[in-house]
Amino acid sequence: MTVDLLLGLQWGDEGKGKIVDVLTSQYDIIARFQGGPNAGHTLEFDGIKHVLRTIPSGIFHQNNINIIGNGVVIDPVVFKSEIDGLAKFNLDLQSKLIISRKAHLILPTHRLLDAASETAKGKAKIGSTLKGIGPTYMDKTGRNGLRVGDIELADFKERYRALADKHEAMIAFYDVNIQYNLPELEKEFFEAIEDLKKLSFIDSEEYLAQAQKKGKSILCEGAQGSLLDVDFGTYPFVTSSNTTAAGACTGLGIAPNKIKEVYGIFKAYTTRVGSGPFPTEDFGAAGDMMAKTGNEFGSVTGRKRRCGWLDLVALKYAIQINGVTQLMMMKADVLSGFDTLKVCTAYNYKGEVIHHLPYNIEEENVTPIYTELRGWQADLTGMTSYDSLPLALKDYIEFIERAVGVPIKIVSVGPDRKQTIMK
Ligand code: GDP
Ligand code: IMO
Ligand code: MG
Repeated sequence: MTVDLLLGLQWGDEGKGKIVDVLTSQYDIIARFQGGPNAGHTLEFDGIKHVLRTIPSGIFHQNNINIIGNGVVIDPVVFKSEIDGLAKFNLDLQSKLIISRKAHLILPTHRLLDAASETAKGKAKIGSTLKGIGPTYMDKTGRNGLRVGDIELADFKERYRALADKHEAMIAFYDVNIQYNLPELEKEFFEAIEDLKKLSFIDSEEYLAQAQKKGKSILCEGAQGSLLDVDFGTYPFVTSSNTTAAGACTGLGIAPNKIKEVYGIFKAYTTRVGSGPFPTEDFGAAGDMMAKTGNEFGSVTGRKRRCGWLDLVALKYAIQINGVTQLMMMKADVLSGFDTLKVCTAYNYKGEVIHHLPYNIEEENVTPIYTELRGWQADLTGMTSYDSLPLALKDYIEFIERAVGVPIKIVSVGPDRKQTIMK
């Protein structure tokens, strides 16, 4: 019996989908524990590129179960399009994919509320993916939400109506011009609910407890990244769930003492999509080169991701909060071609040198302090062994390991499943 946990250590899009797919053959069950269709997890294999939103990244493997846990928020409409997108792969989703009855539903009006809230914020907007995530988690904690299990109740439609009516009043309160045709959105929603009903709904905490008793191995898959955590991220420019390790306990009902390995995924540099502070953001040629080589465009919104240097202050903070036991460094190939690489090792915080992530990392408070390291020129994308990697990259890896005190076990050198080097 093993329960391991995999999560992102930066602002999301670290490459979680790829690594879950790489590791899936070692597990019986892959379980998503938080977030919703704001996530976009990309997998590439056999010349196929596929982006998953709510469905766990183990779905393409033959012999395992994929669980959507209670901590996830599901938009039936997006979910239906995900299911439709998988049709060509002939996967037996009825037996491979199961959903917690306690997962909350994203209603069309949650999406509209997201849009109204962001529009009302003007320049202070979060840069949300506008998938209704914030309003749905607000209804969850406000004890108003609708859950997957409610679909099975005789009065589901009445419950839906009551909540949607309340949302319409709230949208009006924002006093912004949001155009929408609710009957059309509701038609689409209820059609998608019918599709959702074709899958098995379970009490996932019980299922996972029984699976552990039977000796099954479980990999918990995180979405977003630690710096987007609602408690520990760059609040208010965060998402509305706990993206950190504790989120796996609350989002699946797994006890903390059952979790063994915590895999922390990070890019060899840093990206962020949406608003909010980003101390090591590079507005010059280096940032442009990372964006171009790394193809840094959002998997969900297509927005250009902001790029910058690796921030070891933030990485150490994320490692500490999550209790990371193994690191996986992604997109090392994107840094080929730089003469020198900068790594942030401390912050100048209001005139003082600090090594931790303070309350407030806005530009006016924090200036990153960099160490410069030698770059490498070789193309890494065809390399298959750690020994073949350039010396300067090995130095870069060792520098990070020394600074954070956790080993890097995987170095990723391209988007494909095969472009993964085990150390
Ligand atoms: P996730 O949200 O953490 O699953 O990450 P995304 O899928 O949103 O973004 C990661 C992007 O980088 C995807 O387009 C991946 O195909 C790609 N990717 C993953 N690992 C590597 C890598 O090692 N090198 C390169 N060049 N691309 C990678
Ligand atoms: P994956 O799982 C990157 C960001 C948004 C925005 C903020 C709030 O693919 O790594 P929300 O839609 O949650 O209200 O947006 O969080 N964000 C992500 N950024 N990757 C993600 O997921 C993200 N999910 C949300 O851009 O800044
Ligand atoms: Mg993503």
